[in-house]
This record gives sequence, structure tokens and C-alpha cells, in this order.
Amino acid sequence: MRSQHIGQSVTLAGWIHRRRDHGGVIFIDVRDREGIVQVVFNPELSKQSHEEASQWRNEFVVQVKGEVARRPAGTENSRMPTGEIEVIARSAVTLSRAKTPPFYINEEQEVDESLRLKYRYLDFRRPRMKDNLILRHRVVKFMRDFLDARGFVEVETPILIKSTPEGARDYLVPSRLQPGKFYALPQSPQQLKQLLMVGGMEKYYQIARCFRDEDLRADRQPEFTQLDLEMSFVEEEDVLRLMEDMFTQLVQTITPQFKLITPFPSLSYAEAVSRYGSDKPDVRFGLHLHELSDILGKSEFEVFRQAVEKGGKIKGISVPGCAGYSRRELDELTQIAKSCGAKGLVTLSINPDVARPEDVTLERVRSIIARFLKPEELQGVVQRLEAKGGDLLLLAAGDAVLVDKVLGELRKEMGKRLNLADPDLLAFAFIRDFPLLEWNQEEGHWQAMHHPFTAPMLEDMPLLDTAPDRARGRHYDLVCNGFELSSGSLRIYTRELQEKVFKLLGYKQEEIEERFGHMLEAFDYGAPPHGGIAPGIDRFVMLLARETNIREVIAYPKTQSAADLLMNAPSPVSDTQLRDLHLKIVE
Ligand code: AMO
Repeated sequence: MRSQHIGQSVTLAGWIHRRRDHGGVIFIDVRDREGIVQVVFNPELSKQSHEEASQWRNEFVVQVKGEVARRPAGTENSRMPTGEIEVIARSAVTLSRAKTPPFYINEEQEVDESLRLKYRYLDFRRPRMKDNLILRHRVVKFMRDFLDARGFVEVETPILIKSTPEGARDYLVPSRLQPGKFYALPQSPQQLKQLLMVGGMEKYYQIARCFRDEDLRADRQPEFTQLDLEMSFVEEEDVLRLMEDMFTQLVQTITPQFKLITPFPSLSYAEAVSRYGSDKPDVRFGLHLHELSDILGKSEFEVFRQAVEKGGKIKGISVPGCAGYSRRELDELTQIAKSCGAKGLVTLSINPDVARPEDVTLERVRSIIARFLKPEELQGVVQRLEAKGGDLLLLAAGDAVLVDKVLGELRKEMGKRLNLADPDLLAFAFIRDFPLLEWNQEEGHWQAMHHPFTAPMLEDMPLLDTAPDRARGRHYDLVCNGFELSSGSLRIYTRELQEKVFKLLGYKQEEIEERFGHMLEAFDYGAPPHGGIAPGIDRFVMLLARETNIREVIAYPKTQSAADLLMNAPSPVSDTQLRDLHLKIVE
């Protein structure tokens, strides 16, 4: 309601947001999803409505009929979109009464999250959740319209299926009709979408619910939503361009306050890890990792020398302006390195009065390793890291994978501390050329880097027999601001190659038949080359909403311990239910 509605008769229905009793006249703010309007109850104009309103408390649900009027001069409220007008009540009805809510609805306050989850319906009345859910709706609607316009067909796939390997634990559902057997909830519709391609659907998508019993983090829920899609007769570029177009247009339409870098840059997995220490880099800022093994590998500092002798690496980053870090601050950084598995971290502070990189000398730096370094080693490091006076150098040495991980974490930490990332930028980037396989240290076998249906790169096919660790997959990720937003790949579509990959992954022939016989058989009946991708909707909306936890963009999320506090799930079931399912609880 705005000033153009002045003079109209209206009916308002909503919740009591706030009330002010000015002795005689009562002012009440009535709220619904669209906003808040001030209603005036004057006993001289309507005794009935004034009597009704005098009983009203916050969060009562009410209906009011009246006329829209201009607020008297001097009483306008420019902070409210409806601040020029008010409604003069003629009649009023109480639709339902309300207890005092456990937290304020009409004030922006930090509320304990478990309280918000238990009373989620009250949380929805507050602007944050309401806006996030509406944003999510608009994002999903945009995706649906965009894909529909490009000939994609939305197909629903079942929730009760057979285990599909995406690398997490399955949620299982016992069968009543077939004692001792179980369904699995889909970790994703991966196999079903591939079979739709075998069935000739050509372009499929679905807003798909996925279930994974894994440890939760800020960007993970046991139950989450993907925009799952698959296309036939495509190459990598077709899928990536589709994603670039969709995300670019979506952001420009729905959240134009964000900037984008287009075209989306592409990085190989090896480049991402070596430069950013992560396969989901936040490319909004530099602080690149640089290799120093060639400069420091023969140093008198034993940790460095040994790292290189054992086949590891020395790398470093230069953090601008942090040379003044105190002992305590440096210890904090060392703790971060240790929490990643490193034995320690070498820090080197360059005096702020050093004007030019070539003026950095051993006397003008502070570090426990300074006395082991030769002047030319120090110079080499300073030049490689493009360091200057006032910078703090962080150096890590050891196992190559660990060094990247440690410096990747420190890079993220320093990026945060120094506010290096532009909060108004969504920096999408494609990561490509992933290894097909990774070694599972705990279980002692190869596992798929993505999932077992990802096709190896054509030119790396011979490596499957000779050096499978060097074979790359036709796998791509789309990352944004340090999050993995989407993963996808071109798929295997012949029995021969699929069986070969299953065997590399350590499956026995009977197991392959038992678990994946339906896929292999489908490939015998004429399968098109196909590929796809699955953007995580929760993570994407989280970024658009400037939230840091996906729970803030999910209507009914689970807690850290996978509990639903609203309905109180999981919960015990009756003995009859257990008997029906042929289950017995063993304490
Ligand atoms: P993947 O397992 O990489 O790929 O998942 C794709 C995207 O889904 C999101 N995601 C999650 N979001 C919230 N909570 C979780 N627990 C969670 N796990 C994953 C991420 C991720 O990038 N079938 C393949 C896709 C394909 O190959 O087409 C798949 O599921 O944003």
C-alpha cells in the first residue's frame, strides 16, 4: 500500500507487529509477507474496532477493514515504504490469539539457533528467513525457466532407490514386503539421469533432493538440493557454456548488486592447487603460493633440505603489511598450519623501512631461520614472492600435498583477516583436468575423484593400464568465492570402459554385476555420449544471500548432529513398526 491508494477501502489481514496506545487512539502495525502498515483505531470513529484492538497483543492474527488516508503532516515515517499513509479502521476481527513468542519477531536480534530451529515457523516471520526463502524461490524459478527455454525436460526420479556411490554413507530404508532388504535414498540421481539419456531424453534437469550421511559442515547438510542436469551428444564446452550463461544471467537478473568476472576463468586442477593451495580457490584475491624448493632446497636449514631430499616441496606466500605480527599472532598462524597436519610453519618478517625488494638483507628481516640463510637465498625468496618492506612471509616445507593444503588454509585465513576479498564480487571459475582417481590411504585402494561414471580423457586412456594415477578425468567443477558450487563430467557410455574403471576401483566382477549390472546392460542397448553437472542450490543461494551457513537458506535444516529440532527427528518408533519391518534394536 502506497500513497496512490489513498481514499480506497481496504481489508487487511495479518499479524500484530507492534502496538502503541496513545490514550484513546491506538496505533497498530499490521504485518504480512509483503510488509507493514500502520492502522489507527479511533474510538470516536469506530467503537467496535477500538474495543477489539485494545485486546490485541503482538503476533495476534487479525483482520481490519478501513480507509487508506494520508498521515497527518509531520507524522510521516520516511524509513517505512508505507510511511506516508495509514489505514483508519472501521471494523476489526480477531482471527487468532498468540502467546508471547520465545524471541522477538519485530526486532533484529541474534537468537540462539536451536531456538530458531525449534520455532522455525516464528523464524519465518522475521525478515532474514523470509527474504532468504523468497530469494531461493526466485533462483529456482529462474533455473527452471532458463532450462525450459533451452529444451530441457524436468523429470522426477524416485527417492527409494538402490545405493549410488557418491562417496558418502547411504541413508537406508528397510523394506516391509521383502524382509532383510533395504532401499537407499539417492546420494544424487546420477545413474537415473544417465539412464534417461540412454532412453533418448537428450536434455534433462531436476531440482533434486540428495541424501548423504556424512559429517556436517557449514556448507553441508545430510539432505540438500541440486539442480541436477544431463545432456546427450555434448562435449565439455557445451556444459560449461550452458552453466556460464545460466549463472551470469541469473545473477544479473536476480541479484544485480553483485559483480561478475566474465567469461568465467578456467584453471586446471594442478594450477588451482599449486597457485591457491585448493581445488576450490577463492580467486577474488591474489596471495598466490610460490614454489621455493629450487632456492631453498640446499639450505642449511635442515627442515628445508630434508623436505626436498625426501621428494617434498618448499613453498611460500607473502602477506602484505603483516611484518609487525606479534609472537602471539604468529603462534596462531602456526596453530592453523598444525591443524592441517604440518609440523610447523616458518615465518619471516621484512622490516617496514626496506624500500626496494633488492634492499632486503639478512639484517633487515626477523625470522628464526635468518641465521641459516645465505644472502642470495633470501634475495631469491623475496623476488619469487614479490615481497617488499613490511611483508610477512609464510613458508612451509614437507610432503607436497600437505604443503599446498597448509598454505591454502593460511592464504584463506589471511585473505579474511585483511579483507582482501571483494564482498560484492561473485568470482566464478571452472576447474578442469582433475585426476580420474585418488588413492584412498585408509582403505588402500583407488577411488574415483568424482564418481565411477566419469569418463577418462581420451589421450590418457592408455595410462589406465600403465599409470592410472596420472590419468585425468573429463571432470569439471564450477567454484565460486572459495566454495565448490557444482561438479560434473562427461560420462562413460560403453560397458567395456565402465567395467574397466570399476575394476581399477577394486570391484570384483560379481560385485559389479550386483551393484551396477543395470547400468552396464543399458549401455548394451545403444547409449549416446552424454555428460552433465549438478550445481548445489543451497550453497549458491547462501552466497547470493551473503550468508555463511547453508542452514540460513533452507526452510527446515538439520543441526550439526543431523537432528530436526522442530519435529524432533530422529525419534524412536513403536515395537509394532519395528516388527513390521523385521527389525530388532540391539542395545
Ligand atoms: P557432487 O557430489 O560433487 O556431484 O555434488 C554436486 C554439488 O552438490 C553440492 N553438495 C552439497 N550441498 C550441501 N550439502 C552437501 N552435503 C552437499 N554435497 C554436495 C555441492 C556440489 O558441488 N552426481 C554428481 C553430479 C554430476 O556428476 O552431474 C554429484 O552429485 O554444491
